[in-house]
Amino acid sequence: MEFSRRAMLGAMGGLAAGGTLAALTGKAIADAPVPAAMSEGKGGHFMQMGGEFSWKPMKLDPAECAPVAYSGYWYKGFGCGYGVFYGIVGMMAEKYGAPYNSFPFSMMELWKGGVSDWGTLCGALGGAAAAFSVFFPRKEAIPMVNELFRWYEQTAFPIYNPGEAAQGVKGVLPTSVAHSVLCHVSVSTWCHETKLKANGKERSERCGRITADVCAKAIEILNAKIEAGKDWKGALAKQESVAGCTSCHGKDKMSDMQKGNMDCTPCHSGSDAVADKFHDHPQQ
Ligand code: HEC
Ligand code: HEC
Repeated sequence: MEFSRRAMLGAMGGLAAGGTLAALTGKAIADAPVPAAMSEGKGGHFMQMGGEFSWKPMKLDPAECAPVAYSGYWYKGFGCGYGVFYGIVGMMAEKYGAPYNSFPFSMMELWKGGVSDWGTLCGALGGAAAAFSVFFPRKEAIPMVNELFRWYEQTAFPIYNPGEAAQGVKGVLPTSVAHSVLCHVSVSTWCHETKLKANGKERSERCGRITADVCAKAIEILNAKIEAGKDWKGALAKQESVAGCTSCHGKDKMSDMQKGNMDCTPCHSGSDAVADKFHDHPQQ
């Protein structure tokens, strides 16, 4: 409903602008804003139904959505990113119908295993960041991503416990802090610290629970953002390593050759894990 109201307002804006357009020059006409009902980019490309970022974000209950995210992880093996995204946008679809129910949710299975088992970005975080970007343009989504990713780096996972509803392994699981948003680092440190297998049932269960944890946190952030509006800011400060290292490494600084906001520590601290493994390895 809100969708059509917005689209209407957009179209009305377009009509109102159209009225004044006759008085303007050709140049001004070319630069005039496109009605939100169907935005149309240069040369007929980049069209989008309803206009960009036109879906209205709705508040959700993290405690209600986390178990849905957890079961989404197991549903057909669609995995973490699907679980988190469905726990957010899918729950809006269940509660409000259109336009949320028109989203092709199954595409979000791409995040499984850090994008098709490549171990890049933790798929749970990918699903959450995608959900933010359904509603908010980059400038507003970045602080939301910063808050979620910084929280993830320093949190001991998993937290969520499905109890009897567990679909992999029941009971309490051991935790570890990844200091990284990468699936590879997150899973590997957990396995190293717990002595459990990366391809074992416990690891699957762990990632299912993290799916619930990330969904709940992302909803907390989304709710706060909806409440505060445009100027919402997260609570977590830049990581110590990032603040330190980027005092010299960055745009217009002493050395401008690094990109990103990940905690620098796991990869640049010279720990055993990142030391040379191509010679004299494994040491018996
Ligand atoms: C006081 C300024 C300063 C700080 C702080 C700093 N760097 Fe550097 N770093 C440099 C400079 C200057 C270079 C050489 C750059 C060049 O050759 O263009 C460099 C080079 C590097 C290199 C490539 C060469 C090498 O030695 O391996 C890496 C990797 C690097 N820094 C990582 C880091 C990390 C990680 C941190 C935080 C723990 C950090 N730096 C903090 C100034 C700094
Ligand atoms: C996930 C691991 C990872 C993280 C996190 C990470 N780096 Fe790197 N970084 C690398 C790798 C791998 C290279 C390429 C190293 C090479 O070429 O041997 C690299 C390259 C660099 C280089 C270029 C120098 C070179 O030797 O190639 C700089 C400078 C650097 N990183 C700084 C940082 C800073 C500052 C941070 C934190 C803001 C950071 N890195 C976070 C893994 C990481």
